[in-house]
Amino acid sequence: MSFSYKNQILNCESVAITDLVELYGSPLYVYSQTKILENYNSFDSSFDNYPHLICYSVKANSNLAVLNSLAKLNAGFDVLSIGELQRVIVAGGDLKKVVFSGVGKNSIEIEKVLKLGIKCINIESIAEFNLITEIAKKLNKIANISFRVNPNIDAKTHPYISTGLKENKFGIDIDEVLKVYLKAKQNPNVNIVGIDCHIGSQITELAPFLDAIDKILILVTKLKNHNINIKHLDLGGGVGVNYNNNKTIDIKTYVKQILLKTKHLNCEIILEPGRAIVANAGIFVTKVEFLKQNENKSFAIVDGAMNDFLRTALYQAYHNILPVNKSNNGILKDWDIVGPICETADYFGKNRKIQLSQGDYLAITDTGAYGFVMSSNYNSRPRVAEVMVSGNKHSLIRKRETIQDLFANENIF
Ligand code: LLP
Repeated sequence: MSFSYKNQILNCESVAITDLVELYGSPLYVYSQTKILENYNSFDSSFDNYPHLICYSVKANSNLAVLNSLAKLNAGFDVLSIGELQRVIVAGGDLKKVVFSGVGKNSIEIEKVLKLGIKCINIESIAEFNLITEIAKKLNKIANISFRVNPNIDAKTHPYISTGLKENKFGIDIDEVLKVYLKAKQNPNVNIVGIDCHIGSQITELAPFLDAIDKILILVTKLKNHNINIKHLDLGGGVGVNYNNNKTIDIKTYVKQILLKTKHLNCEIILEPGRAIVANAGIFVTKVEFLKQNENKSFAIVDGAMNDFLRTALYQAYHNILPVNKSNNGILKDWDIVGPICETADYFGKNRKIQLSQGDYLAITDTGAYGFVMSSNYNSRPRVAEVMVSGNKHSLIRKRETIQDLFANENIF
């Protein structure tokens, strides 16, 4: 178990969270390396010997230690910016296993990936295609490309993280994309290698994925009829996790169903999971600073805030909140767990039945994905530290920012 209680104290693997806060301070992100690797392996091993590449979606958690742990398992990476690409390089990732996604790649980024030579650029618009071919021509390069199709599928997830509907900004309409493939076929500076699709995130049912594949299969046939034979199908990320006793997708079944539909094509399958690899491998630890009672509300004011962990404020996301030390004699009642920032959205949970008192530590669970990466310095709060644990070993993988760091890049005019 990556997070479990031993003698009433929450542990990450074999390390007590109480020891970690004593050493590294609070608030703090704590990640289980073993869990990250286990999650990656559940995708990887489900394919057996079938040609595939698991491109971990760097945006979910881009800490170098996370990337390096996965690079050691020969993972591929899905990047969205030059910053993410540079992290992958520094962490020892293989450029030949990198796919580059995103609706707004700029010419500096395109030039850089063409020079470096990555596995594939996932193109999201005709304007982007035109820019890539122009730059490739100038550099005398051939770009490996796929087009991200928008299959107009409802992923049945939060509207902010749904990407596969016609009304979303992502990809090229699947009914329009054939024209673009035919145009690409004529261009000497591109090499068509695949089809790409990503319909959303935190998807908890298989059906939207399978419906998208059905639409893609029709496209594959159309492309074949025009002598365009793709080498890979990139089905994106999006597999949901269990945040609140919600349904989840069994990875083995997911891969099995994908292969049932696509095996006859004999092409490599690429997946871009982010959340499913890191979410349940991380917790956010925060300290109860004050208790406060209003007319009919009890607040526990903690030292962590929405700038450190934004998902609750931004998506009204539900994350479990656990006491770090269960043996503390606190007050058992329904608490609103809130941060110190001047925004009503600055909360981590409402009406949570927890026994707590001032000075206790709480763990916000399943925060390994889209946690630290979405943190900011809002309210001039230094970003928190990150720690990785494996067995009984632990290490500071990002030090806490200092107050000086906050304005180190600023000048007075
Ligand atoms: N590939 C592409 C092209 C993506 O846009 C994304 C996520 C992924 C892969 C990885 O998706 P995952 O397997 O993690 O679901 N901040 C939001 C999630 C935004 C996801 C954006 N794209 C959240 O906290 O829920």
